[in-house]
Amino acid sequence: MNHSRLFFSLRALTSKRLFHGKPQLKINGVVYDTHSDFTNVSSTILNLSDRSLHLEPAHPIGVLRKQIEDKLNSTSNSYQYYNDFRPVVTVEENFDSLGFPADHPGRSKSDTYYVNDKYLFRTHTSAHELECFGNIQGFSPRTEKRAPTEKPGFLITADVYRRDEIDRTHYPVFHQMEGARVWKRSSEKSSESHEPLHIQKIRDDLCKLEKQLREESSNLVVEDDKSLESNPKQDYMSDLEVDLCSQHLKRTIELLVAQVFNKKLQSMGSEDQGAQLQVRWIKAYFPWTAPSWEIEVFWKGEWLELCGCGLVREQVLLNAGYEKDSTVGWAFGLGLDRIAMLLFEIPDIRLFWTQDERFHSQFHEGQITRFQPYSKYPGTTRDVAFWLPEQKESSLIHENDIMEIVREEAGDMVESVKLIDQFTHPNSNKKSLCYRINYQSMDRNLTNEEINKIQENVRSQLVQNYKVSLR
Ligand code: PHE
Repeated sequence: MNHSRLFFSLRALTSKRLFHGKPQLKINGVVYDTHSDFTNVSSTILNLSDRSLHLEPAHPIGVLRKQIEDKLNSTSNSYQYYNDFRPVVTVEENFDSLGFPADHPGRSKSDTYYVNDKYLFRTHTSAHELECFGNIQGFSPRTEKRAPTEKPGFLITADVYRRDEIDRTHYPVFHQMEGARVWKRSSEKSSESHEPLHIQKIRDDLCKLEKQLREESSNLVVEDDKSLESNPKQDYMSDLEVDLCSQHLKRTIELLVAQVFNKKLQSMGSEDQGAQLQVRWIKAYFPWTAPSWEIEVFWKGEWLELCGCGLVREQVLLNAGYEKDSTVGWAFGLGLDRIAMLLFEIPDIRLFWTQDERFHSQFHEGQITRFQPYSKYPGTTRDVAFWLPEQKESSLIHENDIMEIVREEAGDMVESVKLIDQFTHPNSNKKSLCYRINYQSMDRNLTNEEINKIQENVRSQLVQNYKVSLR
């Protein structure tokens, strides 16, 4: 596909102002009606939505995905892969079916790219959980579009979309891997242990994981948080089920974290080999899991948050068509981009999206190599300062809207955007903001002329869309 051509044909459609009168948008081959109050997706986003970096075998994101998939299926061949879900999903799939309250901030137009009032660009891979749970043979009577699988677990890797700030670690599209595993409950007892069969099965699965962890990751130091205070369990699960499922979940994630980071430690040379790898579990909250946690890893002097997870709420399983009380299970969602940046030593998240051969030729299937910067092109900064419109209207502008305008005009030529000054005039009570835009391309030198032109467009888009007064 010729991206630059697509860019220009869509561009005219997608500024907020120009959506009026353009009743439809075609995304990945499907036509959607636009909605004047909801549609806020930009051409930048539409163009990124058919890249599928996670499917490129030699791209750092693709290499990492494959490495984790292989690892998790090496202990038990229990995970079905889903790597081709399209990014537009329903509000129901992304939020409602997972129990997000109506006023959850994640739903707001300042944080999420909406196609219209019913469709949006998924903000997380959890949007596909229900469909995948529904696809496990013997667990759900639902017949889905896909062939059902016998595997009691799945891994979904996909691009996800969030309106956000602009800097070296934030990009409006990033990648997640969702993992989940279920066990069917049974009242039948095992003849050996005299425990229900599913308890025996979870114990066996857990044993295998623990053995693998002991053998491969003896340098792992885990600070666990097992307390269920303010992180309550669900009534339908017994204490023993909660304990075993949580352990299985945590050991699974520890195994994958240990393998990824140990591989990196090994490649870093003798000093770091065998160094301790510290992780810690922290209580968390997600509307579709209980109890819930996050795992953090201590890396280069900092705790990095990697992954949210928890035991799947009964309502989600019921929504997937499971019978009441029939099943227990867990789910996690792992962010891939930050991990890939650190493994491959990639200094700027925009590099993942470059089409420059000097980037792509450095990576190979199955290998974690260190990125060698080909050149750092000089950057230049421009400030834009403006008065916000009067009270009522100023609440209509969110910082992410400013980010969006800069992205739309500058594309990947913008490295970061920072608020550097704000004040309220004592007499008029008007508020002034000043943003500093850092322009710098990963691939080439920029001319003053082109930057001036972009900056002029940013300024006029701010005025046109948000009625600010430039200073
Ligand atoms: N979807 C969550 C996120 O994006 C992560 C998550 C997945 C948490 C599955 C719990 C279970 O933050």
